[in-house]
Amino acid sequence: MHKIVILTGAGISAESGLETFRAEDGLWAQHRVEDVATPEGFVRDPKLVVDFYNARRAQAATVEPNAAHRALARLEAEHKGEVIVITQNVDDLHERGGSRAVMHMHGSLKGALCAACDHRWPAAMVMAPGDPCPSCAAPAARPDIVWFGEMPYDMDALFDHLASADIFGAIGTSGNVYPAAGFVAEARRAGAHTLEFNLERSSVGSQFAEHRTGPASQTVTTWVDELLSR
Ligand code: APR
Repeated sequence: MHKIVILTGAGISAESGLETFRAEDGLWAQHRVEDVATPEGFVRDPKLVVDFYNARRAQAATVEPNAAHRALARLEAEHKGEVIVITQNVDDLHERGGSRAVMHMHGSLKGALCAACDHRWPAAMVMAPGDPCPSCAAPAARPDIVWFGEMPYDMDALFDHLASADIFGAIGTSGNVYPAAGFVAEARRAGAHTLEFNLERSSVGSQFAEHRTGPASQTVTTWVDELLSR
């Protein structure tokens, strides 16, 4: 049975009420990336960074998964073959929507990381600069988010999934950030059928064999219905 690999970005959570990054009024219009999403920014002003993620963690707790998240969970539950969700998102809407095989390549708001010993543990809802690491006790807790310039998580496993995909779908991502933006090329090399779900063509839109244009809550639901009725 077909193995389906899905990549999601901020656009899949937009209809749940979470801002995307590169919309006119998006997160990167309100905050300087170099200040809140780089290791240098964290060293320069840890409180600014920790508060930025405290705000996103609090907001993510107030919103609900939407029909697109739920459709992917249904696909995983009912499709005979393997379904893997690789997400760039740090919210937990895929899990709350019912997906179980979710890989957070850019980390998660639910996680904390020790900048001194790399220990990871469940984050408090509100983190403070200098929180102690429960493992090594260093005052070095940071949000478990992969910042620009840092290596995403699980890269070997991600590329193994892409190499064995029969179908690759990218949902709600602008294709501006690598390595995720390069996943469609990997999937095509593996012979997968590739689909892009977006409101418009992404920066790598021309590399997809098929495009489903419109809000993910509609296009993903329709696609999953088609796949499961085959
Ligand atoms: N349905 C489908 N697509 C949508 C919807 C929607 N309802 N709303 C927005 N989109 C699309 C936009 O057209 C855009 O292409 O979602 C995409 C969001 O793009 P970005 O804001 O760039 O978010 P993303 O691609 O996830 O960013 C990737 O960049 O800043 C880093 O680490 C951060 O994980 C993030 C990465």
